[in-house]
Amino acid sequence: MHTTIKRKSRLYIYTVSAIAALAGLLFGFDTGIISGALLFIEKDFTVSTLMKELIVSSVLFGAMFGSLASGTLTDKFGRRRLMLIISGLFIFGTFIAAYGDSVYTILLGRVFIGFAIGIGSYTAPLYIAEVSPFELRGGLVSLNQLAITMGILSSYIINFVFTNIEGSWRWMFGIGLVPAILLSLGMLFLPESPRWLVKQNLIDEATTTLRHLRDQDDVSHELNEIQHSLKIKQAKFKEIFSPWILPVLFLGAMLGLIQQVTGINTIIYYAPSIFQLAGFYDASSSILATVGIGVVNVLATIFAVYYLDKLGRRPLLLVGLVGMGLSLLGLSMAFQYGNEEYLLRWFAIACTFSYIICFAFSLGAILWLVVSEIFPLEVRATAMGVAVFSCWFWNFIISSTFLTLLNSLGASATFLLYAVMCALSFVFCYYKVPETKGVTLEQIEENIRKRLPLRYIGQAPTENSPLIATPEYQAE
Ligand code: BGC
Repeated sequence: MHTTIKRKSRLYIYTVSAIAALAGLLFGFDTGIISGALLFIEKDFTVSTLMKELIVSSVLFGAMFGSLASGTLTDKFGRRRLMLIISGLFIFGTFIAAYGDSVYTILLGRVFIGFAIGIGSYTAPLYIAEVSPFELRGGLVSLNQLAITMGILSSYIINFVFTNIEGSWRWMFGIGLVPAILLSLGMLFLPESPRWLVKQNLIDEATTTLRHLRDQDDVSHELNEIQHSLKIKQAKFKEIFSPWILPVLFLGAMLGLIQQVTGINTIIYYAPSIFQLAGFYDASSSILATVGIGVVNVLATIFAVYYLDKLGRRPLLLVGLVGMGLSLLGLSMAFQYGNEEYLLRWFAIACTFSYIICFAFSLGAILWLVVSEIFPLEVRATAMGVAVFSCWFWNFIISSTFLTLLNSLGASATFLLYAVMCALSFVFCYYKVPETKGVTLEQIEENIRKRLPLRYIGQAPTENSPLIATPEYQAE
């Protein structure tokens, strides 16, 4: 399948993508680390429930603004330079959070880190997609989600390792300097995106970069394609609200919402606290159980990366949502009826694990993949920004209300609420999410222009296709 890409070029592209995916690793690390650090921050400072929620969600607050600013910043500075800038921001924010002497400095540092994460969550996949040859793009873009889960896992391991060390939360935050420094050093050696260079009219540089990336002299075909696609003007912000774009924009924003309101980050950020609630009283055993969560998250994501193109997005998404809903229902029941502590403990652990597995092979990878597929080129940059913003916004809302819900409704009702969200999301996805497996982005775009219902925009027309036979679905 990949016969046209030289081995040397493929190796180089994988290296370039892996370095850029360090931004994903930092995304995972800096969002995951808080789950363990929180247990120790509350020992050093007096923190209210609200303050705890703020400490967790300060990163998300920064990320919302980072994702909003991304479109403009990537165009202004270029992808490579912006990635260098955000690695600096990661380093700066980490210093403030790790060495500050009050909860307010932690908050401030985490907002800076969040801003960098928000930009990185948009720029890294964009950069990877732009330097990749199209044959490898799907797998390479999903590499970013894999890096996110590996970042989360390493944060859990660091949490566990530094549990019994003096000033543990400072170390937990501080270790984030390592991938941040690696990202900044790595980015120094990476090329700028050829697409951005063409946009700046730096054709000679773009040609040299492409030759290097593809390990071949004649890159005129790809260069022409880039020049051609750039002739399609980028839409202004208000143009994305035109009637033919609105449905897909709605779909992207809804997928961002669904990925978050079904509760993933209540587990990712608060797992040790949930395990303590279920009876794992000492911090290190609840953090160890959390390491297990990180491992299955990575493994199930590898499964998703491998099977998304084989089984399709929809089956994985729908089965995943059912599994997530049932697991949450189980968790809710464990807290409601688990009067025997032993039973509660293990049933709650089993439900948490099955929830994570179901999320990782469905919504985890699918959100980032589908939002990079469904938007017509004309509005891709802005529309993707809206979907990424929606994801961070809802992440912020859920993470900053979780502990309050837990305190006011109790654990059982809180998880029941997320289970209901899964059920509603299932209905939405069943009717609205298209299957985009094995169809070109151009075909998707054409279907959107024909104003096909969302559910069918990923379908290639065939002789027997009901879409062709049904007049109301015809092009206007
Ligand atoms: C989500 C994050 C989540 C992570 C868990 C990502 O796709 O956007 O919010 O923490 O998956 O693996």
